[in-house]
Amino acid sequence: MSIIIKNKSDILSSEITDQKIYDGRREFIKNMGLGTAALLAGANMSIAEAKTQAQKYKNLAKSQFSTTEKLTDFSDITGYNNFYEFGTGKYDPAKRAKEFNPDPWSIAIEGEVEKPGVYNLEDFIKPYALEERIYRFRCVEGWSMVIPWVGFPLADMIKQFKPTSKAKYVEFVTLYDKERMPGQALRVLPWPYTEGLRMDEAMNPLTLMAVGLYGNELPNQNGAPIRLVVPWKYGFKNIKSIVKIRFTEHQPTSTWNKIGPKEYGFYSNVNPEVDHPRWSQKTERKIGEPFWAGKHKTLKFNGYGEQVAHMYKGMDLKKFF
Ligand code: MTE
Repeated sequence: MSIIIKNKSDILSSEITDQKIYDGRREFIKNMGLGTAALLAGANMSIAEAKTQAQKYKNLAKSQFSTTEKLTDFSDITGYNNFYEFGTGKYDPAKRAKEFNPDPWSIAIEGEVEKPGVYNLEDFIKPYALEERIYRFRCVEGWSMVIPWVGFPLADMIKQFKPTSKAKYVEFVTLYDKERMPGQALRVLPWPYTEGLRMDEAMNPLTLMAVGLYGNELPNQNGAPIRLVVPWKYGFKNIKSIVKIRFTEHQPTSTWNKIGPKEYGFYSNVNPEVDHPRWSQKTERKIGEPFWAGKHKTLKFNGYGEQVAHMYKGMDLKKFF
């Protein structure tokens, strides 16, 4: 695993927000009826219990893209995580992200757009535009979950910045702050975590910016306050706690592609026909099921082929894995 050390100057100035903006966000949250964030994180909660919790996001539109499959328990979604900024163990993020404060939050918009700038989170989150989207989630490690996200289409956000004709790709960057994300003290990944999509993938109606799950705000360990959800790609493409979105002419590099180009391609579409060099991708274990339930067949594009296969027509998906 290669190690790249980033210096202090990489910390975004957008992380420093003045009192006026902070007050504005508080007011915004109050108006939405959100109140203080419910600290459900770490609670040992079943689906039924999570559903009866006071819902922060009310009257959410139900998405036509939602699956009707059985939801994964809240406790599994929030207790079994990959978020290396809070440790490399599956149970680390739930414990070590407890103190993380994602409020206030801003996102820098850079590159090939007519309206670059540093925007506050509330500039994107329009209560009337939030939806519940129940998506299958397939990790490259061979496990899967079914997660009821709360979010809005990334396309709606992108349109606001008016990308130029040179914008062919979108790069996403996670917060880099060793004080707030203790896992970044270890050089297990080249920080900050980055990811990328082709412009048509970013604009696809399935691509979601998630700000919550199970009707409440996003728990810290799941990428608070805002993360990407691309349901036909492996889990690692779903970058968390985003502070920067950059529009580029050339394909950006992504964290996992940088450290293991033979194992993690730029596209990373869920594809049972293309094995990971060290294991098969033909099947998956559903988190929460007893071991005797066995493994399930993995579906190409994680079952979202109808909505996304056209974007890869004519491409050799073994080469562009
Ligand atoms: N984003 C950041 N910033 N850091 C990470 O370590 N892990 C990725 C992805 N996004 C990761 C990240 C991986 S490997 C997976 S499988 C998913 O987040 C896990 O999301 P979840 O913990 O909400 O299930």
